[in-house]
Amino acid sequence: MKKSISTFLKHPTKDNANRSANPPVTRASTILFNSMQELHQHEKNINANKKISYYSYGRYGSSTTIELENIIKELEQAHHVFLTGTGFGGVALALMSVCRPGDEILVSDNVYGPTKEISEDLLKEFNINAIFYDPENFKDLENKVTKKTRIIVVENPGSITFEFQDLSKIVKLAKRKNILTFLDNTWGTPLYLKPLKLGFDMSFTSATKYFSGHSDAMGGSLAVNKKVFKKVMFFYKLSGYRMSADEAYLIIRGLRTLDVRLKQHFENTKEIINFLKKQKKIKEILYPHKPSSKNYKLWKKYYSGANGLLSIVIKSKKKSSVIKFINSLELFGIGYSWGGFESLVIFQELRGASKYTKKRHYFRFDKDEHIVRLHIGLEDPKDLIADLKKSLKHIK
Ligand SMILES: Cc1ncc(COP(=O)(O)O)c(C=O)c1O
Repeated sequence: MKKSISTFLKHPTKDNANRSANPPVTRASTILFNSMQELHQHEKNINANKKISYYSYGRYGSSTTIELENIIKELEQAHHVFLTGTGFGGVALALMSVCRPGDEILVSDNVYGPTKEISEDLLKEFNINAIFYDPENFKDLENKVTKKTRIIVVENPGSITFEFQDLSKIVKLAKRKNILTFLDNTWGTPLYLKPLKLGFDMSFTSATKYFSGHSDAMGGSLAVNKKVFKKVMFFYKLSGYRMSADEAYLIIRGLRTLDVRLKQHFENTKEIINFLKKQKKIKEILYPHKPSSKNYKLWKKYYSGANGLLSIVIKSKKKSSVIKFINSLELFGIGYSWGGFESLVIFQELRGASKYTKKRHYFRFDKDEHIVRLHIGLEDPKDLIADLKKSLKHIK
């Protein structure tokens, strides 16, 4: 029977042997075989990428991680899905698998701080040169392509400044020039955007965020097409990257409600934005919330939904008063990450002062403008609005 994706997420896997509605958590290092012949045959099946229900050794995962791989494979419509112990492991896996000395990589200027750091600082030590392009200027990307360009690394939208890029144009350019493409799709998730279907070679999601949804697990998912599969598998096996069975279980549990949670995050966010847009101290809301938002058209063109992550640009001559606003919020936790059930807030230092958000080459904002990122959680939006209302009074 053909099922909708919402139904699929409710029934992706169960434990028939133990008659449970949930899969078992298989923690394992050694996997036991009945004979050497069986062991060799199984290794052959793995190498031939045949459908299997367990790996030959725990370093590659277990039946629980295979369950998760299969769910994400369906969501992404991927040739294969590699799971890593943190989201960032998936970014590192992608880059280390395909970049080699002498290569250049083109990286969108708005990527997650550590993605910038690995491209700019670590890869440099391997004679791989990272060049950053303006995410709001396709011509800039086009002009920076050379014969040495190996991969274009995109994060869409930028998870702090929310630039949306014309993704099909990037894919077209890359295919014409025989360049690989990677998309950090943590914001959209493969529920709302399927990068591999658009023609990207690698689609990455930090499973720590909306996949897990409960701020109690970490993981990464790198979905790939046939073209890059072998290269990624080579590095995956030798790097020792893997996700634990316990984290995989938690992420399977989270995925069951991904569709419902995302819808509610979006609904709550719209209510919050209706309040925020009337606030004089807020100069701009970085979120595709209305047709006149600068990113709205590109969001609509590619995505079938949105979520709870947005930034606000606050105008104030006193940065300390913006910090006071953040500190006085009661329902918004101060901390890294997003995509969990709860509301969060964080000041974003894009002027190069923080090692977590490396300096931007292209994003321009005035001295008296400050970016605060909010994650709108699943609390009652009326309470969140009351909290914001009382705290915004601190901004001078
Ligand atoms: C857009 C984006 N990509 C990747 C990551 C890395 O994921 P993780 O924190 O699971 O390592 C993050 C984490 O905040 C992120 O926001």
